[in-house]
Amino acid sequence: MNVLVVGASRGIGLEFVRQYRADGAKVTATARDDDGLARLVELGATALRLDVVDATSASGLAWQIDGAGFDVAIVNAGVSGGRGTGLTPSEDDFDHVMRTNVLGPMRVIPQIVEALAPSGKLAVLSSLMGSIGARTSAGSSLYRASKAAVNSVMKDASLGPAGRAIVVSLHPGWVRTDMGGAGADIDVATSVAGMRKVIAGLALRDNGAFFNYDGKAIAW
Ligand SMILES: NC(=O)c1ccc[n+]([C@@H]2O[C@H](COP(=O)([O-])OP(=O)(O)OC[C@H]3O[C@@H](n4cnc5c(N)ncnc54)[C@H](OP(=O)(O)O)[C@@H]3O)[C@@H](O)[C@H]2O)c1
Repeated sequence: MNVLVVGASRGIGLEFVRQYRADGAKVTATARDDDGLARLVELGATALRLDVVDATSASGLAWQIDGAGFDVAIVNAGVSGGRGTGLTPSEDDFDHVMRTNVLGPMRVIPQIVEALAPSGKLAVLSSLMGSIGARTSAGSSLYRASKAAVNSVMKDASLGPAGRAIVVSLHPGWVRTDMGGAGADIDVATSVAGMRKVIAGLALRDNGAFFNYDGKAIAW
């Protein structure tokens, strides 16, 4: 098993590295700073420096993973941004959240798809908050828009390699991380174990779909 995790310095991304390594997988993972890179090396992963918002850094991923043949790749990097901003964010908040959560995946996904093994699987960390169909109240509009947008990006990405790779969006649950906060529903171990099971069970018919960490389909 050959795995790539993009955005793995902490939280859900780091737990993916921990669990796949514990299962004996070969793991390549990315972080932005020295501390994050050191945590990945400590877990026995090949650590690459990558900031998905930095055009030069993001474009440098391709040659570093060229020919890797990943069985599983996870695009996890994301930010929540200011949540209390109402419907109209500041330009700075908009740029920060959209560049990280949408432009970042748009930059790295094509490079990663090229580096997948035949029938490889690519999971994009989206959110239930990006679901328009499941929405019943307003709030966190910028973050929600970014995750709805990345679902659209994921869908387009799934249509390119259709038949030779499987591309999906995943909601990790409400998870106790720096982003999810201490009062969230589940711990990272439960979330990641669930998503790994979902990823392991993916078949070609699932290409382009949106799943909860427990395997249930989520409305767009
Ligand atoms: N926690 C939840 O309840 C929850 C719910 C739904 C969806 N999600 C999604 O799940 C993913 C992981 O969330 P989390 O809870 O683990 O968040 P987290 O604890 O805040 O970790 C976010 C990760 O993304 C990385 N990252 C941020 N900006 C980046 C950039 N420009 N380039 C590369 N990496 C970058 C961070 O690296 P640094 O350490 O360098 O900042 C960190 O490794 C996110 O996409 C999030 O939107 C989380």
